[in-house]
Amino acid sequence: MWNLDGKTALVTGGTKGIGRATVLELLALGAKVIFTSRNQKDIDQFESELQEKSYICNGIVSDVSLEDDQDRLTDFVFERSGSLDILVNNAGLNIRKEATHYETEEYRKILEVNLIAPFELTRKFYALLKRSGKASVINVASVAGSQDVKSGTPYAMSKSGLLQQTRSLASEWAQNNIRVNSVSPWYTQTPFVEEVINQKERYDKIIERTPMQRFASPEEVAATIAFLAMEKASFITGQNIKVDGGLSANAL
Ligand SMILES: NC(=O)c1ccc[n+]([C@@H]2O[C@H](COP(=O)([O-])OP(=O)(O)OC[C@H]3O[C@@H](n4cnc5c(N)ncnc54)[C@H](OP(=O)(O)O)[C@@H]3O)[C@@H](O)[C@H]2O)c1
Repeated sequence: MWNLDGKTALVTGGTKGIGRATVLELLALGAKVIFTSRNQKDIDQFESELQEKSYICNGIVSDVSLEDDQDRLTDFVFERSGSLDILVNNAGLNIRKEATHYETEEYRKILEVNLIAPFELTRKFYALLKRSGKASVINVASVAGSQDVKSGTPYAMSKSGLLQQTRSLASEWAQNNIRVNSVSPWYTQTPFVEEVINQKERYDKIIERTPMQRFASPEEVAATIAFLAMEKASFITGQNIKVDGGLSANAL
């Protein structure tokens, strides 16, 4: 059971950063993986890299926040697999500003992509997850969902909502053998945080506050996601695992 042989997985936002590392990890463990991006070119490029390694995978263009795309994605997975064993709600975005500086559309978009879309998608996949018999949903949340990390209030709101979505769905769906967990990364080396890395003072402060004195790699987050996806984690549901280099254990 330290593998994902015979499993079908879906990873949203699978061509970059944590999503890309997760696709690679799940494939290496034996799963068949479907991944999304909003960009066909990125999909074609990643798909051909993966097929060269003889992996079984399919990319599909999808904006997780659009209802038509969510429906197309559900149909796509149904046609290819008939059921879904692993759903990784990874796609996310942020716009970092002070609360009074947001345009309404900006903060609504953050909530739409990071909080509403995982709820809609997970609900739409309910029948396929149930059909798996042993399904696992993993939501990629953030340390920002539990503590203020000065990355903008709407992002923090979206991720803390995602943590409660995880706990509530875990309780509701345990009877259907659908486990629902989340992973909360601290700063992870991806395009998502380039803006932060370029602000020397902020970067130094983050490193100083992190006991392990570095950012996570996307592969370190992906490994935690893969563990939660496995049947080895069969009694773990409604939990949040922080991948934070010791940050939450550190007071000074
Ligand atoms: N990096 C960090 O330090 C960090 C820390 C805590 C939590 N996280 C969380 O980890 C997740 C992945 O972030 P990352 O660091 O890997 O960032 P990234 O490299 O910027 O990747 C973000 C991914 O989200 C996808 N995405 C964004 N908006 C989307 C939409 N409307 N529809 C579909 N896909 C969309 C992007 O897909 P396309 O652009 O290809 O469409 C991309 O694959 C996010 O949920 C983020 O909040 C990251």
